[in-house]
Amino acid sequence: MNQKDFPMMNSGYIYLDNGATTWKPQVVIDKMNEYYTKYTANAHRGDYDISLKVDNEYENTRDLVKEFINAKTRQEIIFTSGATDSLNLIVEGFFKDNIEAGDEIIITKSEHASNVLPWFRLAKDSNAVVKFCPLDENHYVTLSNLKKVITNRTKVISLAMITNVIGDLRPIKEICAYAHKHNIFVVVDGAQSVAHIKTDVQDLDCDFLAFSGHKMCGPTGIGVLYGKYELLDDIEPKNLGGGMNESFDNIDEVYLKPLPTRLEAGTQNIAGVIGLGAAIEYLQSIGMEKITLHEQTLRRYLVDKLKQIPHIKIINEESDSGIVAFNVDDIFAQDIAVYLNKYKICVRAGNHCAKILKSEVGVKNTVRVSIYLYNTKEELDKLVELLKDKDKILNEML
Ligand code: ALA
Repeated sequence: MNQKDFPMMNSGYIYLDNGATTWKPQVVIDKMNEYYTKYTANAHRGDYDISLKVDNEYENTRDLVKEFINAKTRQEIIFTSGATDSLNLIVEGFFKDNIEAGDEIIITKSEHASNVLPWFRLAKDSNAVVKFCPLDENHYVTLSNLKKVITNRTKVISLAMITNVIGDLRPIKEICAYAHKHNIFVVVDGAQSVAHIKTDVQDLDCDFLAFSGHKMCGPTGIGVLYGKYELLDDIEPKNLGGGMNESFDNIDEVYLKPLPTRLEAGTQNIAGVIGLGAAIEYLQSIGMEKITLHEQTLRRYLVDKLKQIPHIKIINEESDSGIVAFNVDDIFAQDIAVYLNKYKICVRAGNHCAKILKSEVGVKNTVRVSIYLYNTKEELDKLVELLKDKDKILNEML
């Protein structure tokens, strides 16, 4: 659906790597161009018309994000450079000051590097312990499996809402309800979910949520950190500088601004924020439920077709999202991606930054198809047609 909205559709590529980044609709590009050509100025610093216009557009995006994820207040929305930046800020800014030696951090082996490495470093620096929740036979997280690793030392559970290889949707609401009864924080990596399913942070009751603009039709270099107000307010800013301080007369008299500005030091990615606002309006104009349904329909269509090909092994047949990971017998995943590229089909191959997943799934590399709102059955037919004939693949690899 909506192919005409995306200028990249004229490129001739079939883009099935939406887990990595998404194409941008013209409205997002136009909105950013408008900032660069009609009202370029800094935000929150000028007393002239175009700077006030920037303030309005910038803060309007904050309201749009607040509504989009149903946060309680606009102060709970902090702009960052992406999900990675947000997760690092959560770990370094909040948990570093709230964790003690021996405390436990629970993640899984299917998390992306951004939801593993910051915790590894924190555990090393604080003598805390990283534990992995065992996954079920479909590589899913269940509350009963989580309970097996939760102890009275568990401080935080940090999970992707949807993982980037298995594509499973985690029962975050159920997990938060249990975790909070036991005074455990829940951090959600929304990089692969916010663009694909309706997100309601109040309903989930998660403590923090991180996501990126570029995976939801928005620009690169912009992301969001959501946190419950009282927790965000406890974050020690990583960056100090302009815009976030109230006054500093001397070393002992440094006063910072309240949230959200306190966590947005220096000139921000203004065009990115404005573009993100346009992306959210675009997604809302389609409707998140419609997007989810479209992806699920296409996923089932693709899985049914791939299952009929004897030399293809699907890793995540039972998944909930538009992500399908598979291998072709005896052919290296990357070779499949290179072969498909000859036909202008873009997929991702490799470990997809989920480098410890291999010990769970037993497979190191996969070919990953990740579907988005503008993909079609016809595109998937072309992909399947090219994968059907193993001899053709082998011949063309020579
Ligand atoms: N995290 C992105 C992916 O899964 C880059 O492809």
